Amino acid sequence: MDKIVSLCKRRGFLFQSSEIYGGLNGFWDYGPLGVELKRNVKDAWWRDMVTGHDETLVPNGAPQAFNMVGLDCTIIMHPQVWKCSGHYDLFHDFMVDCRECKGRFRADHIKSLDCPLKPSKRPGEHDKCQLTDPREFNLMFKTFVGALAGEEGAAFLRPETAQGIFVNFKNVCDTQRVRVPFGICQVGKSFRNEITPRNFTFRSREFEQMELEFFCHPSESPAWYKYWRDRRYAWYLKHGLKSEKLILREHDKDELSHYSCGTADVEYAFPFCEAGEYGELEGIAHRGDFDLRSHMEGKLVKDEAGNLVVEKNAEGKPRHPGSGKDLTYFDDQTRERFVPHVIEPSAGADRATLAFLCEAYHEDKQPDENGTMQERTVMKFHPKFAPVKAAVFPLVKKNGMPEFALDVYRDLKAAGIATVFDQQAAIGKRYRRQDEIGTPYCITVDGQTLEDKTVTIRDRDSLEQWRVPAAKLVEEVSTRLKG
Ligand code: GAP
Repeated sequence: MDKIVSLCKRRGFLFQSSEIYGGLNGFWDYGPLGVELKRNVKDAWWRDMVTGHDETLVPNGAPQAFNMVGLDCTIIMHPQVWKCSGHYDLFHDFMVDCRECKGRFRADHIKSLDCPLKPSKRPGEHDKCQLTDPREFNLMFKTFVGALAGEEGAAFLRPETAQGIFVNFKNVCDTQRVRVPFGICQVGKSFRNEITPRNFTFRSREFEQMELEFFCHPSESPAWYKYWRDRRYAWYLKHGLKSEKLILREHDKDELSHYSCGTADVEYAFPFCEAGEYGELEGIAHRGDFDLRSHMEGKLVKDEAGNLVVEKNAEGKPRHPGSGKDLTYFDDQTRERFVPHVIEPSAGADRATLAFLCEAYHEDKQPDENGTMQERTVMKFHPKFAPVKAAVFPLVKKNGMPEFALDVYRDLKAAGIATVFDQQAAIGKRYRRQDEIGTPYCITVDGQTLEDKTVTIRDRDSLEQWRVPAAKLVEEVSTRLKG
């Protein structure tokens, strides 16, 4: 993991936020290469879920047409949203403080955290340690809307993008030609005041989510749950995560969130995980009708029989009243009115990006131009994710090679292929620079180019080299990137 963190800094994938002031724990900036990588991950998700989604896929035997649409909601929403969703009352972790070293730890992480006292031990293991009892800590960041910083202006930064989708359910139904089953997708920032942010970007305080809320008939919801669980697991495999490091884990009943009647996680064996352990990339949850009903009727709780009922205050009124708006769905073909059930695949864009970074990292030994074996660090990204797709090199800085290479570079850029031009240092060094950032194809303009107008393409992974006419280069690189 240390090697990956160091490469990310050295080559401009990720920087600590506000680094020149010493950084801010739990916040990360994406550098010039990182921003492209993460954008490619988010674009691949959006294409798969929204723009390129095949609307007649088969969930349960019979083909069904369904729509997938997008939204981009605000980060700060009406405070009542979080009261009805349950986040205001329930979105907390337990924290433990040490009166001696002033360390603050998440109670359920204590067995894997280090105490600031030396020699390094787990919190509570030093004789001097004085741990407090666990206390509840709400993870939502609070802010104030308007000039007055009073409680009436208090608001929260969203801890998930999902609620923006639920509160717009009616707007989407009223304005789009969607029929249940259909999905609404959103990609955007979420904020959680994590007690112990750690493991690089894995647990941050500001991060991005890629969420789908899929609305379906209650009777079809178990089939859709399986459909989305399997489809999302397959997405990570398709984009290069290896099956021996990727698991799909069904939650036990006692692990389920307050709203969920079934959840599976896609988990990846990150380098910082202990042997046999995994880190969560995405949760796929069957949320039932919890969210739409909460925003209609008021915050729901389970009664003794396990049914969801509106929580009441001492006067018998809803503790957190809902919007009172009708969020039911009327099926004009079956003439049935119902509250749709929801399947929610909720992925972290930063965690996915980190997993693809970890998976890509390889070290090997390759001969340089003199045949001497050289250590090589190579990022074997899926070509779709590679921040730079092609690099163009003139072999030497004379004989018209730089001019020819610049034309080649401009052709690739004009075709929308992220390309760099590099004429500094020996060719072997230039190859290694590109390998280290995961550029799939390096193109060299050499003496033969000037005679027959062909260039050499080198493949990052196989190291195979072959010649193509410069006039056919864009087509060749595009086809290979797509393939
Ligand atoms: N709407 C459901 C929801 O938010 P979640 O399991 O709390 O569910 C979904 O979050 C995903 O968001 C996680 O699987 C993870 O990828 C990402 N995520 C959650 N907390 C995160 C954090 N502190 N830092 C980075 N990513 C996080």
